[in-house]
Amino acid sequence: MSRTIPRWTAVSASLAGLLAFGAPAAAQGASSQPTYAKDVAPIVQRSCQTCHRPGQMAPMSLMTYEEIRPYARAIKQKIVSREMPPWGVDPNIGIQRFKNDFSLNNEEIATISKWVDAGAPLGNLAEMPAPRVFTDEIEWSLPGEPDLVITSPPFTTAANAQEAWAELYADVPLTEDRWVRAYQSRPSKDGVKVVHHMVAYIIKPDGETDGYGLHYVPGKPATIYQEGAGFLLRAGSKIKFDMHYSSYDTEVTDRPMVGLMFYPKGYEPPNKVVRLNWASLGDLDIPVGEANARSDGYALIRDNFRLMTYLPHMHIRGSRQCIELIYPETGQVQMLNCFEFNFQWQLVFQYEEDAQPLIPKGTILHVINYHDNSMGNKYNPDPKNWTGFGQRTVDDMAIAMGEGMRLSDEEFARMVEERKQLMMEGRKTGR
Ligand code: HEC
Repeated sequence: MSRTIPRWTAVSASLAGLLAFGAPAAAQGASSQPTYAKDVAPIVQRSCQTCHRPGQMAPMSLMTYEEIRPYARAIKQKIVSREMPPWGVDPNIGIQRFKNDFSLNNEEIATISKWVDAGAPLGNLAEMPAPRVFTDEIEWSLPGEPDLVITSPPFTTAANAQEAWAELYADVPLTEDRWVRAYQSRPSKDGVKVVHHMVAYIIKPDGETDGYGLHYVPGKPATIYQEGAGFLLRAGSKIKFDMHYSSYDTEVTDRPMVGLMFYPKGYEPPNKVVRLNWASLGDLDIPVGEANARSDGYALIRDNFRLMTYLPHMHIRGSRQCIELIYPETGQVQMLNCFEFNFQWQLVFQYEEDAQPLIPKGTILHVINYHDNSMGNKYNPDPKNWTGFGQRTVDDMAIAMGEGMRLSDEEFARMVEERKQLMMEGRKTGR
């Protein structure tokens, strides 16, 4: 079976306003002979060094020319194949404006490729940007000091060992419910060496787990809600830290944490942030050896909804997920995004404020999933067997997860109007 890539479908003028304007791929006129100092260093600083620096879990440091030079060929190969940096948003389909986007555009890929092909020259040192300084092992990217930090019990990874998974629990020390306006999950200072990714799940006082956690992958900034938006953290909740560890040359002890900033006591934000799982396929059917096993999930969006962040969730065989909207009444279809999926990277896609899809109530969310159950999938634990839905990592899943706000009809109409204004201004200023 061949993979059919869903295509853009025409949208009416009124609905076109709901999507943000496309990505202006700023062509930066790559100079004819790119050098490290002038052209490559700024790209590597922005898009690679969050992970490729001493003390982080990526295999080698890419902080200096001397460190990068021996990897030039490997770098070209990994960026051309778009394996690095790990991002996964299909650049040819749908919304391209994300707060946490560190991917390379076509010009940047061309610049680095040309540089490698020319023998990776250093260039003029005077043109080299100042080294990028990182402080995120010790500092929060929250807009201030957190009001509450919840720290997990310690976990120690063995030296030079296999990957490890851990579930660690901590109580939320609140005596009254509080509205959260910003949060950030992160490993401890030493833990950054080994934390591949983490998800901090909130377990409510009734024991029910909020199915969509507070995520960390290296370089992911804090989530800061717009004024008037937040979620309720109940007294008596717990945090479950779901950890995926790689290993380091020595033992490393990590105590991951979640930092929270609250709204003042007594203030209830008008826009309630909810985290939802949609269209989970309990009857997932992934045949033996099939490289592009497609499955379709549908969910009715009951309330007007502003989608703020999106997280495709599949397991080891998951390879691609697309989401499209089927609008009420007209039945018109609009593709939002396609994501190349890699279980190694539990990436969360944070839409820019003015790119957050505004979804009218009654819309159907159509989720198109692809799983690769062939021998060609190097992560496939068992290509000889059929696979279906299940909780174990070796079973699979197909779920759409999102964080956003439910909106009244008035608020929804106001936001659509604001978006239209923005688009009109955008046209005037050529954005
Ligand atoms: C979010 C973290 C992250 C970012 C950002 C990132 N990398 Fe990586 N990179 C890794 C990890 C982790 C590995 C090890 C393989 C894996 O786990 O997928 C890796 C592997 C590699 C490898 C293969 C190394 C080997 O030994 O085979 C190359 C080359 C590479 N990265 C280059 C880059 C370049 C160039 C950039 C920026 C354009 C970049 N990476 C951005 C985390 C990252």
